[in-house]
Amino acid sequence: MRGKLVVGNWKMNGGLAANAALLGELTSGWIGTQGREVAVCVPYPYLMQAQAALAATPIAWGAQDVSEHAAGAYTGEVSAAMLVEFGCRYAIVGHSERRQHFGDTDEVVGAKARAALAAGITAIACVGETLAEREAGTTESVVLRQLDAVLRAVAGEAPKLVVAYEPVWAIGTGRTATPEQAQEVHATLRQRLRAAGAGTVSLLYGGSVKADNAKTLFAREDIDGGLIGGASLKASEFLAIARA
Ligand code: PGA
Repeated sequence: MRGKLVVGNWKMNGGLAANAALLGELTSGWIGTQGREVAVCVPYPYLMQAQAALAATPIAWGAQDVSEHAAGAYTGEVSAAMLVEFGCRYAIVGHSERRQHFGDTDEVVGAKARAALAAGITAIACVGETLAEREAGTTESVVLRQLDAVLRAVAGEAPKLVVAYEPVWAIGTGRTATPEQAQEVHATLRQRLRAAGAGTVSLLYGGSVKADNAKTLFAREDIDGGLIGGASLKASEFLAIARA
């Protein structure tokens, strides 16, 4: 079922006191609605804090990454089984910042998605082209290459994914894709997902989503919600996006 979903990606921001205030405002401001889910993906050390604050609320929580490995000598990594212990419903995989700065390849992203799903966590698989790729006219081939790697890795489990289209040039830049640009890529992704028997996957848009542009983006046929970075750090802004 194509549920509506808005996910906050806090990135490497926060602190115990600031999180407590933000989580408090979110829980008092969001009344769950059927078919619409709100979640926050927090840095690993704050998963326990998110779990404590959100367990009795309609807001879900998750991580911003997950290891493709199950356990063992992988210093600095966190396994999907560990995320399950902290009640995570989601794990972002393949965020462009991980691909750019930490060398996550298409294959690694696929393996991370597979590890998350195997543990019962919904992988939010991110795809998106750079500005140079868009200008070279390769947007479609780039996002499909990234999506195909995930689909290959998760095989029959694809319907359990969430996919996020995040054009790299729109992330944190204040430059949002137009609803037309976003819808065009979403339609391409939807077609590929349908062919893989996963047409009902929720497709999120991410990249400078704000309260004042969320409604027109989310109104488009194949956009089921958003992955929100900067604007997820302010409760009023994030809640306004969730309501849109
Ligand atoms: P942004 O980030 O909303 O700050 O552009 C989105 C993301 O990176 O997930």
